[in-house]
Amino acid sequence: MPADHEPPSELRDAEGRAIRYLRLSITDRCDMACTYCMPPEGEREHGLRDELLSFEEIVRLVRLLASHGLRRVRLTGGEPLVRRDVVSLVARLAETGIEDLWLTTNGSRLAALAEPLRAAGLVGVNVSVDSLDPARFARITRGGDLFGVRRGLEAALAAGLSLRTNTVVLRSENLGELAAIARFAWSIGATPRFIELMPIGEGARLPPSERVGAVEMRAALGELGLGDEALGDPGRGPARYLSTRGEGTGGAPARRVGLITAVSDEFCASCNRMRVTSHGEVRPCLASRRAVSLRELLRGGASDREVLHALGWALGGKGPGHRFDHDAQSGTLDVDHHQVGMSLVGG
Ligand code: GTP
Ligand code: 5AD
Ligand code: SF4
Repeated sequence: MPADHEPPSELRDAEGRAIRYLRLSITDRCDMACTYCMPPEGEREHGLRDELLSFEEIVRLVRLLASHGLRRVRLTGGEPLVRRDVVSLVARLAETGIEDLWLTTNGSRLAALAEPLRAAGLVGVNVSVDSLDPARFARITRGGDLFGVRRGLEAALAAGLSLRTNTVVLRSENLGELAAIARFAWSIGATPRFIELMPIGEGARLPPSERVGAVEMRAALGELGLGDEALGDPGRGPARYLSTRGEGTGGAPARRVGLITAVSDEFCASCNRMRVTSHGEVRPCLASRRAVSLRELLRGGASDREVLHALGWALGGKGPGHRFDHDAQSGTLDVDHHQVGMSLVGG
């Protein structure tokens, strides 16, 4: 085989960005139904079980990617902790050669699972905390139990997992709570992050007036005395971090708040990510129409080279960035943004 037909040693997208981070959705099911993410009746496209990638298929894929430059995997959903035997999947993924394995969760099952997940090799968890008011929390999550999530956060802390909180900011609900949520996160050793509502799936159906951009978020956090300079987490994704000025009390390090403002403050130029849905579709970008199914390839005895070829094709369609703002303002929002919910693509 001539050298120019060898698969590349590392995966790159059409813009030349190296792909080092995989967001891997392992289920589209969820035990909550947040208003910005899930329709009230739950996601319509629940997969039959054999439509989900099996653990064997997932492990093979991650091992292959790890030998081509992948460093970090984040398990997402739906709610990843509702997938049966998730702890054993984590244990197997931790052995694939990646450096870092994290999970994004709503926290409902973390009280029981934090310790075994940590023992299996999980490094950290990002946990949704959209409100500290139990009634508001239940309203936003359509039935979620804040106390259960708080127990989960405590268990994660006790297990030694790194912790971040995620708050999707909704003007009519939690805009007035941001500083309190940040203080709460700091009090349990977590880094709080505030997320601008993205017009994807159910998020596109909420009134645009619910969206709060970076400038207003900073104003809402004003009482925390954060500096103006936003620091990226190099190679680590879309959050931009602001720190409290100077050292914290007692010589503690300055505390940080992350802002994830994909619409008002786009970060796509430094993107190092790809996504695989629970059904085995590669989505090179959250906002991408291009989806390439790996499931039949993995199931049909394809060679590593053939799988890499399909991945390369998918990544070849990864454009420079999303066009949420433009699309939303011009009323030409990609129909795909409506049809493919966050819980199917994994955020
Ligand atoms: P790390 O960088 O690994 O800490 O993860 P993260 O902050 O990206 O992960 P998390 O699952 O907590 O996602 C937080 C928010 O960022 C969610 O709203 C995601 O949908 C959003 N997000 C994550 N990656 C991307 C991306 O590449 N593009 C866009 N537009 N949003 C993203
Ligand atoms: N806009 C922004 N973030 C969203 N998430 C789900 N839907 C949206 C949306 N429309 C977030 C969840 C979770 C992560 C996986 O994605 O709150 O933190
Ligand atoms: Fe479930 Fe997470 Fe979506 Fe909320 S954001 S409905 S917790 S998948």
